[in-house]
Amino acid sequence: MTPKIHAFFDEATNTITYVVQEPAGRACAIVDSVLDFDYASGHTDTRSADAVVDFIQKEGLEVAWILETHVHADHLSAAPYLQERLGGKIGIGEKITVVQDTFGKIFNEGTRFQRDGSQFDQLFKEGDSFHIGQLRGDVLHTPGHTPACLTYVIGDAAFVGDTLFMPDFGTARCDFPGGSAETMWDSIQKILALPDDTRIFVCHDYKAEGRDQYAWETTVGAQKRLNKHIGAGKSREDFIRMRTERDAQLAMPKLIIPSLQVNMRAGQMPEPEDNGISYLKVPVNGL
Ligand SMILES: [Fe+2]
Repeated sequence: MTPKIHAFFDEATNTITYVVQEPAGRACAIVDSVLDFDYASGHTDTRSADAVVDFIQKEGLEVAWILETHVHADHLSAAPYLQERLGGKIGIGEKITVVQDTFGKIFNEGTRFQRDGSQFDQLFKEGDSFHIGQLRGDVLHTPGHTPACLTYVIGDAAFVGDTLFMPDFGTARCDFPGGSAETMWDSIQKILALPDDTRIFVCHDYKAEGRDQYAWETTVGAQKRLNKHIGAGKSREDFIRMRTERDAQLAMPKLIIPSLQVNMRAGQMPEPEDNGISYLKVPVNGL
């Protein structure tokens, strides 16, 4: 089955949100949504999410799932806002518990912060399947960028999150707590084992050198032939060396500190304090 896919690009965080619709019917899923956040003022905005809401309402779609490929470190998820407006169940990988444990410690969260993934409606593991109307989705566990990363294979389309980027950009970093270049290589092989004509949709694009348009759709075959980090005969050792050296040079994403605290709670803000305001912490020299 070939789902209809509509992409929304967020310039501020280079994130692509997808609406994935069954070919003959009204059921859909939303993959990797964005809540706009201005760190300087501490203000959120639903402009990006409202574009998705408007599209879904205009098309008369019914949301079955609001899916996260992983706990993003560069943007806040709009999952709770979208669920309130449109319904649907919020899903993520079951290894979210590992991510919650790691960042629960780093942010010194109290005992009220549950580390069992219960903030989400569904925790997926390798081999699970789900339905968007008539359309079937299959779950691959593809850790490396983070321990909880999933690839959702929906019909002939794979939503790979940050495991692979466009072939001319390569792959995502593996140096966040719980990340591993070795594990990432093995996860990528799982994705490359899908049929060559499987469409791949990436979660971010930054325009590669020499390309002036953003792009987010490619195929398994193109990744095998052309991906600058893992394609065309690159070895596991080459990849691990390249990834480790490159990651050591990268600055932290601008929104990593708020993103982790919000996204590990399925997109909810920390519980408000007694004045009714939610606060996000900055761990000084702690990350
Ligand atoms: Fe990410």
